[in-house]
Amino acid sequence: MATIDYESKIPNNVDLASDKRLQRALEKWQPDYLDWWKQMGPTDFEDKDIYLRTAVSVESAGWAHFGHVKMPDYRWGIFLEPHAADRKVSFGDHIGVDAWQEVPGEFRTDLRRIIVTQADTEPASVEQQRLLGHTAPSLYDMRNLFQVNVEEGRHLWAMVYLLHRYFGKDGRNEADELLERRSGNEDRPRILGTFNEPITTWLDFFMFAMFTDRDGKFQLLALAESGFDPLARTCKFMLTEEAHHLFVGQTGIGRVIMRTCEVMNAYPDADVTEHGVVPLDMIQRYINFWVSSSTDLYGGEVSSNAANFFAAGLKGRCYEEKRYTEHTAMQESYVIEKLVDGKIVKEEVPLRNALNEVLRTDYLDDNQKGVDYWNRILSKANIDFEFCLPHRRFNREIGIYANNRFDTQGNPLTEAEFVANQDKWLPKDEDRQYVSSLMVSVTEPGKYAGWIAPPSKDLNGQAADFDYVRL
Ligand SMILES: [Fe+2]
Ligand SMILES: [Fe+2]
Repeated sequence: MATIDYESKIPNNVDLASDKRLQRALEKWQPDYLDWWKQMGPTDFEDKDIYLRTAVSVESAGWAHFGHVKMPDYRWGIFLEPHAADRKVSFGDHIGVDAWQEVPGEFRTDLRRIIVTQADTEPASVEQQRLLGHTAPSLYDMRNLFQVNVEEGRHLWAMVYLLHRYFGKDGRNEADELLERRSGNEDRPRILGTFNEPITTWLDFFMFAMFTDRDGKFQLLALAESGFDPLARTCKFMLTEEAHHLFVGQTGIGRVIMRTCEVMNAYPDADVTEHGVVPLDMIQRYINFWVSSSTDLYGGEVSSNAANFFAAGLKGRCYEEKRYTEHTAMQESYVIEKLVDGKIVKEEVPLRNALNEVLRTDYLDDNQKGVDYWNRILSKANIDFEFCLPHRRFNREIGIYANNRFDTQGNPLTEAEFVANQDKWLPKDEDRQYVSSLMVSVTEPGKYAGWIAPPSKDLNGQAADFDYVRL
C-alpha cells in the first residue's frame, strides 16, 4: 500500500482503481476542485514553474520529490499511512476492540462533523493567502507560500476522500460544500473564526503558519489517535507535510526579528521604522493577536462534545498511546480557572469534559518553544527585549473567558481598562498600515526585501541565487 500510483488521474496509495464507483465520484469532484483552485488559489502565478516537493511515498525516509511544476499541474492525491493489521481502539469506552475500518453507525454524525470541520480549514487558508504572491519578499519565500498552498489543497483531498469513501451521499454533499464556502464571506463563511481573518501581509502569513497551522498540528495529532483507522492513517501523513508549514512560520518570524536586530545594532538611537524594519513591540502585538485567535480554535474549556468524541474513541489526546498509561480519562479531574465575581477561582471538572483545554495546553506549550527560539535570536544579537505568549485568557471570543476582559498576563480588567490599553497589546491601524507599506515584491534570485533576513540555509541544498520560481 505504500507505493503511490501516479499513473491514474488521481494519484493514490489506496487502490482507488479497485473501487470504480468511488473513483468515478472523485473524478467528478476533481474538475470542481480545479475550478475552485483557479478561482480561489494563488492569483496570477498559475503558468509559472515553481520548485515544489511532491509526495512520492509515505515512508518517512525520502517521501518527497523536488522539481519545477506549475501549480495547477501539481499531483494532488490521496495518501494514507500503511494499515497496521492489528490496530485496536486505544482510548475511551471501546478500548481494545479492533480499530474500525468502516464508520460505526452510532458515530456517523459526530465523525462526519469532525472531518468536515478539519477539512474546511484547508481550502480556507489557501483563500486567505491568495494575494500574497504579489508581495513576496523573495523567490524563496514565494516558493514556500505556494508549497504550503498546494499542500493545504492536498489536505482537502485527504479529507474529501474520507467523506466520499465512508459517508455516501451525505459525504459527497459535504465535499461539494467545501468548495462553496469562502473565507471571510458574509453569507457562506468558513466554519471556524480564525479561518475568516484576512491575511494581507507576510507578517500575518508567518504568524498564521506559526500559530494557526500549529493548531492544525494538534488537531491532527488528536485525530491520528482515532479508533476510526482511515482517519488516523490520513492524519499521520498530513502531519509530515504540516511540519514544513510550521517551519516556514517559525523561521519566517525569526528572520524578521533578526533583520530588526541588525538595524537596532547598526543605528542604536534610531527609530527602526525609518530603516524599514518591523519594531519588536509591533511584532509582539501581532503575536498577541494570532495566538489569541488561534487559541479559540480549541473550543470551550468545558465541553460535552469533547467528552463524547473521546468516549467514542474518535478523537484522543495528542500522543494518547505513547504518552499516557490510563486511557479512559474517567478517574481523573482537571482544574479550570474561572472568573467569579471579578476573581479567578479554580474549579475541578471531570477530565473528559476538559479535553479541549488539555489539547489547548499542549498547543500553548509548543508555541512557547518557538518564542524561546526567537528570544535566543534576540540574546545572540545582544538586544534587551523578550517576546512572550499572551495569557490564554487574553482576547478570547470563545469559551468561558469570552465575555470578560483580561490583560496579556491574564489579570481581569474592566472594559474601560481594556479599551485604554488595547493599542499596547493588539495591532493598531498604524501598525497594519506600516507593515503593509513594507510589503514590496522582490523577485531577483537570491535577493530579499529590507525587512527580512535571508534564511540561514537554502532549500534542499540549493544555491543562494536558485530560481525557486521562474517568473
Ligand atoms: Fe493542512
Ligand atoms: Fe498547514
